[in-house]
Amino acid sequence: MEKLMIAGGRPLRGTVQISGAKNSAIALIPAAILSESTVTLDNLPELSDVAIYCELLEELGATVERQQDQLKIDPSRLVSKPMPNGNVKKLRASYYLMGALLGRFGEAVIGLPGGCNFEPRPIDQHIKGFEALGAQVTTENGALHIKAKQLQGAKIYLDVVSVGATINIMLAASRAKGVTIIENAAKEPEIIDVATLLNAMGAKIKGAGTENIRIEGVDSMHGCVHSIIPDRIQAGTYMIAAAATRGDVIIDNVIPKHLEALTAKLQEMGVHIYEMDESIRVVGQAEYESIDVKALVYPGFATDLQSPMSTLLTQTKGVSILSDYVYSNRFKHIPELARMGAKIKLEGRSAIIEGGKLSAAKVKATDLRAGAALVIAGLTVGDGVTEVTGVEYIDRGYDHLVMNLSNLGAEVWRQQS
Ligand code: EPZ
Repeated sequence: MEKLMIAGGRPLRGTVQISGAKNSAIALIPAAILSESTVTLDNLPELSDVAIYCELLEELGATVERQQDQLKIDPSRLVSKPMPNGNVKKLRASYYLMGALLGRFGEAVIGLPGGCNFEPRPIDQHIKGFEALGAQVTTENGALHIKAKQLQGAKIYLDVVSVGATINIMLAASRAKGVTIIENAAKEPEIIDVATLLNAMGAKIKGAGTENIRIEGVDSMHGCVHSIIPDRIQAGTYMIAAAATRGDVIIDNVIPKHLEALTAKLQEMGVHIYEMDESIRVVGQAEYESIDVKALVYPGFATDLQSPMSTLLTQTKGVSILSDYVYSNRFKHIPELARMGAKIKLEGRSAIIEGGKLSAAKVKATDLRAGAALVIAGLTVGDGVTEVTGVEYIDRGYDHLVMNLSNLGAEVWRQQS
């Protein structure tokens, strides 16, 4: 196994190019199998989850060809095949194959998801959607068996605002007979990205990005070319790292609007932010005010930036309160930050974070955003080398991390652990 070694204390300076969004890519790739001909995806990130999804599609008989950041998927020879085990267990988002295979073939057998383990991640809303569309859903030997003679459009109210359920229902409903309305839908940019691809493939979806999405089913869908939106969470992570190291960094190839909530909170702390059309410049300051942060569904502050933000809040003068209203226990990085001297108390959904100096330590990443929080912590520490194990988690969401940080002046390297 590998670990990341970080000799911090140096301000990050320069420009970093943001890649395509992981949480789009791992929905767009399965969405492509709804087409009868080749779908080309541009701006593909280089991540382990993407590689696993390409293997899953090849197991289903699709031809997948990757050239740099372009992926060509030819699903014309796709077959309906049960996938109870194997690669589906390696990533949580393999559940998108349920909606895609259901839409394409009217059936799916998919092993229940694996992936990040910060807390139980139910898929009851996905199942509620599939059943509303007329599918029978049973759980056998740790896999979901889904079957529908004919998918029928329906009105589906999501009890919980869920990105995954919204996308999964959109995938299946694209090929149902009649109209489906998803109410209380999630509004994340990645949902708009998936709807944009599906419409380019011939689907008829309106309202993606709002709480009501209307999908009129179509009989067949065709290939197209689609460019993946930039990864707002990767971008936000570098913004936070720039602020934490008191650096001066231009984060390039972003959609500033997708980062509005983070930008507002950083400015509230005293970070100087300059927005351009497709980039954001972050200039760190010597002192920051403590603030309160609430992680909410989009367009609120992203829960995926909650962990990196907790590291930055250790760099303020006072006491900050960081609450997560999406996940109730996404704080496994807090004990690791405490090993670096962070003074953080957990109370229910909130972390009470007192500003103070961090010191180098051996720490372990337990999920991808927790890993990012620990890397940022290491970057702020000048007296010693921080060792972060669990790099395989970090590699799921941050491509070219060591190269990008080194180009920004950080002293970071990988080492066998
Ligand atoms: C997506 O996960 C992202 N993953 C997560 O990012 C992100 O944290 C999350 O959305 C919230 O923004 C991908 O897109 C692959 P949800 P997802 O369904 O779809 C509850 C990362 O770091 N819920 O929106 O699984 C659930 O427990 C990852 O990149 C149900 O109760 O999240 C949670 O409390 C981590 N029943 C809330 O809803 C369901 O059927 C939001 O979950 C589904 C979800």
